[in-house]
Amino acid sequence: MKTITDFIDAKKEGRKISMVSTYEYWSAVICEEAGIDSILVGDSAGMVIQGLDTTLPVSLEEMIYHAKAVRRGAPNTFVVVDMPFLSYQVSVEDAVKNAGRIMKETGANAVKIEGGEEIAHIIEKLVSAGIPVMGHLGLTPQSVHALGGYKVQGRSEEQQKKIIKDSKILEQVGVFSIVLEAVPSYLAKEITEFVEVPTIGIGAGKYTDGQILVFHDMMGFFDRSPKFVKRYLEGKKLFIQALKEYREEVQTGKFPEQKHIYE
Ligand code: KIV
Repeated sequence: MKTITDFIDAKKEGRKISMVSTYEYWSAVICEEAGIDSILVGDSAGMVIQGLDTTLPVSLEEMIYHAKAVRRGAPNTFVVVDMPFLSYQVSVEDAVKNAGRIMKETGANAVKIEGGEEIAHIIEKLVSAGIPVMGHLGLTPQSVHALGGYKVQGRSEEQQKKIIKDSKILEQVGVFSIVLEAVPSYLAKEITEFVEVPTIGIGAGKYTDGQILVFHDMMGFFDRSPKFVKRYLEGKKLFIQALKEYREEVQTGKFPEQKHIYE
């Protein structure tokens, strides 16, 4: 993916979109070399990198720091950057200024913001300023307290109606794609058929136009992962094994060997 048009074309042509959320230079290098379609610099960095309980404390400066590192690691990949909590909700002026900083300072291709009808006017303004916007509906982690926890959304008829309505509104104000997080598969399917822009699912089943997982979750760096995560590697186990080997070799003098030594 190079531009937002590639996202739309992928949906038209029935090609599924692979996205990974990550935050560092090295994991971005790996994603680009693996041919991942797009990287999201998610504000989940707060939880994954900083060990926080929520994404709420993540700052704009921190997102810019992570996005610059990712861009350096993946110069040819479509990079989307999350706008952190309160960097766009307070006023349209703030939103444009902060999204503008992300675009100018990081070299990102787009920003992502959470919410539906209530932030439609903000999306409209960002899009008219030339900033591509990805929407995010369903479980929106920046509203975790208002939602009463990290729960599947869209189970009640009222929630379903709102998410479906929001998806159309987001499309009308110009998002190029919508993340659907933690919603029942049948609802994600209905939305995916209802809107023309591609939907990217996380915990939203198999009918979305693409999928996104957090790099560190899928690589098995945490002891437990949510039901929707497939662990493609047991990273934590492998790292511990390697570190134990290193510790033992240091203790026994096996490392460094002759080939590691400058004469
Ligand atoms: O912050 C993040 O990584 C995200 C994805 C999980 C969609 O918003």
